[in-house]
Amino acid sequence: MTSRDQPRGGPRIGVRIAGTGSALPSRVVTNRDLEKVMDTSDEWIVQRTGIRERRVHDRDAGESAEALGAKALAAALADARTEASEVDLVIAATMTASMPTPSTACVISSELGCGSAGAFDINAACSGFVFALNMAHEFIRGGQARCVGIVGVDTITRHLEFSDFGRSVSVLFGDAAGAVVLRADDDPARGMLAQAMHADGGRAHHLYIPIRHDDRLDPTDTDDRQLGLVRMNGQAVFKFAVSKFPEVIEETLNKVRMAPDEVDLYVCHQANTRILDAARQRFGLSADRLPVNMERYGNTVAASVPLLFDELRKAGRVPEGGRVMFLAFGAGLTWGSSLWKL
Ligand code: UT7
Repeated sequence: MTSRDQPRGGPRIGVRIAGTGSALPSRVVTNRDLEKVMDTSDEWIVQRTGIRERRVHDRDAGESAEALGAKALAAALADARTEASEVDLVIAATMTASMPTPSTACVISSELGCGSAGAFDINAACSGFVFALNMAHEFIRGGQARCVGIVGVDTITRHLEFSDFGRSVSVLFGDAAGAVVLRADDDPARGMLAQAMHADGGRAHHLYIPIRHDDRLDPTDTDDRQLGLVRMNGQAVFKFAVSKFPEVIEETLNKVRMAPDEVDLYVCHQANTRILDAARQRFGLSADRLPVNMERYGNTVAASVPLLFDELRKAGRVPEGGRVMFLAFGAGLTWGSSLWKL
């Protein structure tokens, strides 16, 4: 090994979340609105999920995943007092890009004027933002970037049917975008303390979107009307989430020998209040420490974690210098965490 092959030395680089932003489609669809188009009730949806309304995008009104993502990242850049030209890398976590290529991140980067910053998408469904956050952190800590824009965006309602046929799935989801800007910081104590990223493709058939007949992962799915729509075994995903959430919290805390109450805030993927209640009870956490906003947005896939974090920051509920754990689970199946010292 020559001296040129040595890893770069120098002081450890801190990483800070310098700004956050979010963007929502303008159309609000309440549970009462859904009652008019399918056999469901506000009572059923609230009791089983905690959701009261969600946003539904209109692509004809300029609300594509790329447009919502650009709006969210523009807001995060303004919040971070950062010019688009300072961004070294744009990462978009999404599973609903408008086209197979260009990536959502390339479109967002160009729209905002990030010049020739690197840009790419990652797809880990609802876990996508948390995975992207872990990845972006490492680019900065490793000295390869100084400023990274991360967007979590999905327009999942493209893959739903608001009718009796799709009622067990369509009542759960909504569209949104959330973003953060990460910057290198002189304080080496700031940044990610521990993380976990996991996947189990062997259970992919519990939550997936078949496009062609031969994409069917579950042989019992034989109805052609299902092609292009979210297929979900709700009870299997529920059990998976209820067991994995506490497991990944413990795994992450164990890495840094920390107790659950040493974390100031748990920013969790918003899929079902019952899933979050189970985690809260298991660790004896207050509602303030593990907050919920899904009653207004439903499950917004990769946008759910950054959307909630942006709301909490704007409401002054994120302690400066505090410890925050971001958590998500979703299709793949995937699950993961990112524990930060802000
Ligand atoms: O990012 C990950 C995304 N996914 C999740 O997190 C989903 C996790 N799973 C869940 O949240 C829950 O399983 C659901 C909310 C999806 C469903 O709740 P559940 O308590 O597991 O209900 P179920 O699927 O067992 O259905 C109970 C009943 C059924 O009727 P019968 O067979 O008991 O007569 C369903 O047909 O509820 C019926 N049902 C509905 N009724 C009114 C299903 N969907 C609806 C609906 N409105 N929208």
